[in-house]
Amino acid sequence: LTLRVRVPASSANLGPGFDVLAAALGVWMELEVEETGRFEVRTELSIARDRRNLAVRGFAALRPVDDVRFTIRSDIPLSGGLGTSAAAYVAGLAAADALNGGGADLLAEAVRLEGHPDNVAAALLGGFVICTGERAERLEPPDGLSAVLVVPDRAVRTSKARAALPEEVPMGDAVFNVGHASLLVLGLARGDLELVARGLDDRLHQPRRASLYPRSTELVSRARSFGALGATISGAGPTVLVWVRSAEAGAVAGRLEGEAAGWARVMAVPFAGSGVEVERTSAG
Ligand code: HSE
Repeated sequence: LTLRVRVPASSANLGPGFDVLAAALGVWMELEVEETGRFEVRTELSIARDRRNLAVRGFAALRPVDDVRFTIRSDIPLSGGLGTSAAAYVAGLAAADALNGGGADLLAEAVRLEGHPDNVAAALLGGFVICTGERAERLEPPDGLSAVLVVPDRAVRTSKARAALPEEVPMGDAVFNVGHASLLVLGLARGDLELVARGLDDRLHQPRRASLYPRSTELVSRARSFGALGATISGAGPTVLVWVRSAEAGAVAGRLEGEAAGWARVMAVPFAGSGVEVERTSAG
C-alpha cells in the first residue's frame, strides 16, 4: 500500500498572536509512505534519514516504522519560520493514522511532538487558525489577500528565538497585543483588509527577538513603504511574511527583490485554504 500525504507550510504568530494565530501557505511538503518490509528514508533534502527524522517520528507516534519506506520532498525553505517541523510531524501522523483506519486526535499528537499548537494546527486544518491549548478554530482565508515571503539565507534556530523571550511581560504590551490580535481576527473574518493591516503590530515577541535577525526586523518596519498592508516575522523567524492585496503581490514582490538582494530570496505565495491531504496511490 502506498500513501501520499501533502502538507502546507505555515506562518505562526501573524504579528500579535504569539503561539495563538497561524496561517497555512501554498508551499508544500510531500511524504510518500510505502510498506516495503524495510525501514528507509529517501530524500534529497539535508535532513535526518534515520529515526530522528521528524516525519518518521510523527509516524512512529501512531504506528511501527520498521517495515516502512518514507520518501520526502519539500518546497518549504528550511531557514526558519515556515513550519517545516510542524509539516513533517503532521505528514507522518496523518500517514500513520490513515493506515490505522483513522481515529487519532492528530492535533493533540502533533502539539505533543511540536511543543506549541500554532503551526501544527495550520498544517492540519489549512486557512487561518486560532489556537488555545490543544484546540483550534479555523477561518477561511479572505478573498484578495496574499503573501510575499522574504526568506533569509541564514537560518535561526527556533530554540534560540524562544530563549530570547522573558517569562513575564509588561501589562501594557499584553493589552496592546490583545487589541491588535482582536482587530486582525475581525479583519480576517470580515474580509476587511484595512482592518487586517491595522491588526498586524506586535509588542510581545518581535521586539525581543529583533537582535537575532536585524535585517528581517528592519524590513518588517518598512513593509508599508513597499505598498504592502504590513509585515510580520513568520513564526520564530527569520523569514518575513509580507501581507499584500493579491492584485499588488507581483509589484510588491518586485520591489522587495531589490531589498533582499544578497541576503534573502522573495517568494509570492497564496494563503492555503486546505490543510493536510492524504491520498492512496496504490492497493497492496
Ligand atoms: N509561536 C512559535 C514561536 C512559532 O514564535 O516561537 C515557532 O515555531
